[in-house]
Amino acid sequence: MASLTHAQGGTWFENVYPGVRCDIPSHVYQATFSPKKDWTDQFSPGAEIRDYWQSQARKYDVYKYAKFGQKVEDAAWDSAEGVWNLVLRNVSTGETTATKADYLLASVGRFNAWKLPDYPGIQDYKGVLRHASHWDSSFDPTGKKVAVIGNGASGIQLVANVQKLASRLDHYARNKTWIASSWAGDERTLGPQLYTEEQKKAFEDPQTYLAFRKELENKYWRRFGTFLKGSPENQELRKNFIETMRKRVAKKPEILEDLVPDFSPNCRRLTPGPGYLEAITEDNVDYIRTAIKRFTETGIETVDGVQRDVDAIFCATGANVDMVPAFAIRANGKDLRDVWSQDGEHGYPYNYLGLAVPDFPNFGIVQGPFAAGPSGTVPHSVENQITYIAKVLRKISNEGIKSIAPSAKATGDFQDYADAFFNTSVLSESCSSWYNGGRPGGRVHGLWPGSAGHVTAIRREPRWEDYDYEYLSDMGNRFLWYFGNGWTRKESDPTSDMTTYLTLPEEVDLKSLHEGWWNLP
Ligand SMILES: Cc1cc2nc3c(=O)[nH]c(=O)nc-3n(C[C@H](O)[C@H](O)[C@H](O)COP(=O)(O)OP(=O)(O)OC[C@H]3O[C@@H](n4cnc5c(N)ncnc54)[C@H](O)[C@@H]3O)c2cc1C
Ligand SMILES: NC(=O)c1ccc[n+]([C@@H]2O[C@H](COP(=O)([O-])OP(=O)(O)OC[C@H]3O[C@@H](n4cnc5c(N)ncnc54)[C@H](OP(=O)(O)O)[C@@H]3O)[C@@H](O)[C@H]2O)c1
Repeated sequence: MASLTHAQGGTWFENVYPGVRCDIPSHVYQATFSPKKDWTDQFSPGAEIRDYWQSQARKYDVYKYAKFGQKVEDAAWDSAEGVWNLVLRNVSTGETTATKADYLLASVGRFNAWKLPDYPGIQDYKGVLRHASHWDSSFDPTGKKVAVIGNGASGIQLVANVQKLASRLDHYARNKTWIASSWAGDERTLGPQLYTEEQKKAFEDPQTYLAFRKELENKYWRRFGTFLKGSPENQELRKNFIETMRKRVAKKPEILEDLVPDFSPNCRRLTPGPGYLEAITEDNVDYIRTAIKRFTETGIETVDGVQRDVDAIFCATGANVDMVPAFAIRANGKDLRDVWSQDGEHGYPYNYLGLAVPDFPNFGIVQGPFAAGPSGTVPHSVENQITYIAKVLRKISNEGIKSIAPSAKATGDFQDYADAFFNTSVLSESCSSWYNGGRPGGRVHGLWPGSAGHVTAIRREPRWEDYDYEYLSDMGNRFLWYFGNGWTRKESDPTSDMTTYLTLPEEVDLKSLHEGWWNLP
């Protein structure tokens, strides 16, 4: 397990900009199987989430397997040997090492290949220039003139938090966006929303805590109707958001016209943005919709010729929304970057069920394109994706499979289904979003084509008939390696428990009788 960061935590280790915080409740954004009862805040700051995932890594012994500060730079499939050859670069020393793997799982995140915009003159700017995901904690914006480019989730959080410190803030928002009150009707504020000691004490009772979690999390499975074009739920959302936005811009009501988009809510990822609308209506903020022409040594010039000088420019301009991997993944004469890139073979991240790619054997993806439903929760979805991959890995190792990859036909059928489904959803409307690779009206690939409940059901049992296989046995019989000599290893050990399936009758659940892969004689 290689991670280019120097510690565990992914997103929550990498993003340390002021105000970085989860917009999903803390008790929902956690492993379903290992909850933390004492979250301090209803919507955790990034550092608390980082600490939680690091504690989980310690609890489940992840550090035994993980190599940090190692960037995967190249992955090449050797079809003769049936292995991936990987090149890792030590990000501190620059040294490279080669390693092999039978299976490659890309769990590289969607938002960490951050990029600065490519405006002319950006190299000439002499002030502090940072991307939100590459924050300079030594810079104190207090009393400074700053610019924030971008009104995605990061830009919105930054503006709300930095406005209070800066003497002036220029906020460049080239497109309009919906500001949601919250994802599922939960109350939001800019500042902390701390749990009281009484609440935390009540959570110590397992039944009380379980009931609390179930009620809170249930709401996140119920929002799917809001994604369907013309649905009453989506219209209701529009009405409520406009009303909320109108109230929150009361100090400068005229700004509303420049905020409310033409596209429906949910076309682009919702951004609750507590404190954002209040911030942009403050006197020290310029909300700028005019396009940027260039950077200068001292600031930014817009296409209307106005030059605004600032001490720092923060680019909350997102990452590689095309979801093309930031490193080479090569197999069967193809590089996944070419297959997926907008001017490449498919022009978008074509894949099978968000999990695998034809012609790229023994390769899996977690939380990549088409990964998760628009409803549900990221942790639940990731756990289910990993469970699916675990089934693939068990099949590979039990059955002597040299290579497994989804067929082009099954993948094409999935893609056709996805296109047809997305046409019925607001995701296909004209907005710029990481759901559509930043191309308004472009092919949607950011989400699963269906609800979170739907994807959970579909991924529960892999459809093995959708895959192409090669076996390790070179004797032409697929069963030789798998069946071996007709004995199981367990029965050759006289001390082993051959009857693990026998248990107290009252503990038997007939629904799962003899289903467990781990419970074999
Ligand atoms: C600022 C921010 C706030 C967010 N807030 C929310 C939220 O409120 N709610 C929500 O549901 N989601 C939120 N997200 C989305 C969030 O990314 C996911 O919920 C979740 O963290 C995804 O986990 P992951 O493991 O897939 O990816 P990540 O957390 O991004 O982890 C990917 C890991 O892969 C490593 N990696 C990447 N490339 C390489 C390489 N070439 N070699 C080696 N290692 C590599 C990275 O270093 C990183 O450690 C947020 C994202 C950002 C950026
Ligand atoms: N907890 C949270 O609330 C939270 C916080 C941060 C991130 N996240 C997650 O991370 C995802 C990514 O968020 P993000 O804000 O980093 O990225 P993002 O949603 O992709 O937003 C990027 C923003 O930068 C703008 N932009 C990009 N290039 C630009 C350019 N050259 N000039 C001017 N503007 C430019 C985009 O404008 P256009 O819209 O015009 O393209 C957009 O407003 C979110 O959708 C969310 O899933 C969540």
